[in-house]
Amino acid sequence: MNPSSRLGPRLNTILEFITRVQQDKPYPCIWDCCCDHGYLGIKILSENLCEKLVFVDQLPHLIEQLSNRLTPFCTDNDKIGNYELITADAGDLCFDAQQRHLVILAGVGGETSVEIVTGIEQNHPDVQVDYIFCPSASHNALREYLAINDFGLMFETLTCEKQRYYEIMYVKGKSAKDELPRVTLTCTLWEEDNEDHQRYLAKINAPRASKKPKRKRCKI
Ligand SMILES: C[S@@+](CC[C@H](N)C(=O)[O-])C[C@H]1O[C@@H](n2cnc3c(N)ncnc32)[C@H](O)[C@@H]1O
Repeated sequence: MNPSSRLGPRLNTILEFITRVQQDKPYPCIWDCCCDHGYLGIKILSENLCEKLVFVDQLPHLIEQLSNRLTPFCTDNDKIGNYELITADAGDLCFDAQQRHLVILAGVGGETSVEIVTGIEQNHPDVQVDYIFCPSASHNALREYLAINDFGLMFETLTCEKQRYYEIMYVKGKSAKDELPRVTLTCTLWEEDNEDHQRYLAKINAPRASKKPKRKRCKI
């Protein structure tokens, strides 16, 4: 992928959202955690959306490939700003306490997202870290964790890619004192005239409906 390539709908929805966030109250540092190919981070860099972009993945060979992919852009394209590549478990990262941080966790499951956020929050009780989540599966595990801890919901949406729906949540950490709504166990965006919302709602309700015990008929 080069910076002028188009992202798929899932990552593009996140990119468009970050563009809006950065126009309003920008985060100096954005972390593309579990970055793999780094497509989203490369776009954020090429569009100059933050002062510093950090790519993080636990697999050294992916970070090495990404480093090779980024090198020519740095010399050819002065639009590519400041970035860093880190091979690590994203739950073990160190955040500068003087800055606000935006962590993107996309394309990993809800349980993995919970493990990573738990690590980050335990290690940084005094640092403001906000998150954009787009779990690939087990979104319930993530929602449960966010709902029972001090996370405030700033925005959520649904996106569809290759006939699969993905939930995207922008969540503020340590927001007990803020008047933000809490994360709910299901999305809160069920517009009656939105086909995607209704289709997804029917889908997530389907297993629950089939598990529901059938009512016994009373004999009169
Ligand atoms: C499917 S890719 C997601 C790529 C990209 N974020 C996206 O949404 O398309 C998942 C990546 O997460 C990385 N990963 C999984 N758990 C991780 C962790 N705890 N810390 C850092 N990277 C992790 C894997 O190595 C893999 O490269």
